[in-house]
Amino acid sequence: MIFGAIVAGGVGNRMNLSGLPKQFLPLGDSEKPIIIHTLEKFLICKKLDFIYLGVHKDWVGYAEELLDKYSIDKKRVFVTPGGADRNLTILNIIDAIEKNHGPSDEHIIVTHDAVRPFVTLRMINENIEAAKEFGASDTVIESVDTIIESKDGELISSIPNRSTMYQGQTPQSFKMSALKNLYSDLSDEEKSVLTDACRIFIFRNKPVKLVKGDTFNIKITTVSDYKIAQAILGGNLGD
Ligand code: CTP
Repeated sequence: MIFGAIVAGGVGNRMNLSGLPKQFLPLGDSEKPIIIHTLEKFLICKKLDFIYLGVHKDWVGYAEELLDKYSIDKKRVFVTPGGADRNLTILNIIDAIEKNHGPSDEHIIVTHDAVRPFVTLRMINENIEAAKEFGASDTVIESVDTIIESKDGELISSIPNRSTMYQGQTPQSFKMSALKNLYSDLSDEEKSVLTDACRIFIFRNKPVKLVKGDTFNIKITTVSDYKIAQAILGGNLGD
């Protein structure tokens, strides 16, 4: 089976616009919450058998109410409590999936940030195909800026060749059992430096296939990202 896993376990400290975690803020004329925009993109993909939302434990009831309000099919979409960090939210979703549908080496999981509402059906479909073939996939865009590495924050340590540099987005997709097994095999030190789930595969020299993202597939992290997202939706970005 193929599962969507929308991670919404954070509280959006860098945004802090209102008491609401950013994934619940309204977006566009309809005032639909960001997480519902994102979920609707996943619902369009008929290859996804079920979609799980990993929501901060204090907001599970609120998310359930949103599913009712927007008439989301609760036989296809489930809410489950998130974890202390993003990877633990994904692992909580995997636990819920295995409880409800049983474990299988064939399961594919398409993980995605709730706060990237401009994901497309093409990206989701290409992620599914790449994860089936390679075991893992990451959505990326070519880096337009030169990437500068500084280990001490004072001086440049290296300037990698820009033509081989990409910026990571989501979805990131995986053979679910491989992700779970590789994660449980990591040391506590390795777990503590994991900023994203693909790194779990990279640590163990497993292939991760690139899928083409889009500059519009932004992550709403700060208030200015939120304003850009409103402009994208309103078509107010000029020609
Ligand atoms: N996320 C999650 N579980 C966590 C932390 C984050 O599922 N324990 C999710 C967020 O809800 C978001 C995505 O991971 O959809 C990307 O994280 P980020 O933009 O950093 O969100 P927050 O952690 O909410 O933001 P901040 O770091 O500003 O607090």
